Amino acid sequence: MKVGFFQFDPQFGNIQRNVETVIQAIHAFQGDLLVLPELAVSGYQFVSKEEVWELAERVPTGPVCQQLEQAIRGRALHVVVGLAEREHDSVYNAAVLIGPNGYVGTYRKTHLFFEETLWFSPGNTGFHVWDIGQAKVGLLICFDWFYPEAARTLALKGADILCHPSNLVLPHCPDAMVTRCLENHVFAITANRVGQEQRENKSALSFIGLSEIVAPNGQILHRASHNDSELFMHEIDVAQARDKRINPYNDLLKDRQPQWYV
Ligand code: ACM
Repeated sequence: MKVGFFQFDPQFGNIQRNVETVIQAIHAFQGDLLVLPELAVSGYQFVSKEEVWELAERVPTGPVCQQLEQAIRGRALHVVVGLAEREHDSVYNAAVLIGPNGYVGTYRKTHLFFEETLWFSPGNTGFHVWDIGQAKVGLLICFDWFYPEAARTLALKGADILCHPSNLVLPHCPDAMVTRCLENHVFAITANRVGQEQRENKSALSFIGLSEIVAPNGQILHRASHNDSELFMHEIDVAQARDKRINPYNDLLKDRQPQWYV
């Protein structure tokens, strides 16, 4: 199975331009699963709830979902994209999974980071695993990495690959994902963004890049640069994520002792 990420620099508020950039990457990508960053079409540093509302859309009927569905339809490709999702009066920091037949599902970010708590409602979807044929995939968004329970829940539900759209500003996540993969024997694709945002009187945010694909044994199969856009693809053997044996005596998930974890 060929999986990859698209690391790039979304332009704040310019949804149409960002969608065009993403669609170009989708057309250029020759693999089976492509992960895009968190809030990949809106940008990140919002200044008001009204602004977030304006940059959000309904899923899957909104224009971004529709354009991406059209770009993917009929290709043997699944795409995970981060976007702001409106439902009733709430906006969620969401990631949407789209495949050859259109919309597959949505994950709403559970653990909101910093000012996201001002703009978004905490996710209410829980952690789902979708079978996309060649693999079972689970979605996390950025700061969810900080909560090992999130990755563990997806592993317990059978995820082979953690798809992890991100807008990272702190340095720790790329190394931490090595542990998330090792402790769950799963692959992870972290798709981060690059560039800076500085809106109104707020402090500038610098996004750290370093998107990566990590294997179930903790090996970093590829890590992107800090600053450059990159469309990257790598072939993986999904069976590696299904073998939870550590040695002849230990099976990672079967050896858990949940009665002591309360
Ligand atoms: C983050 O959760 N965007 C750091």
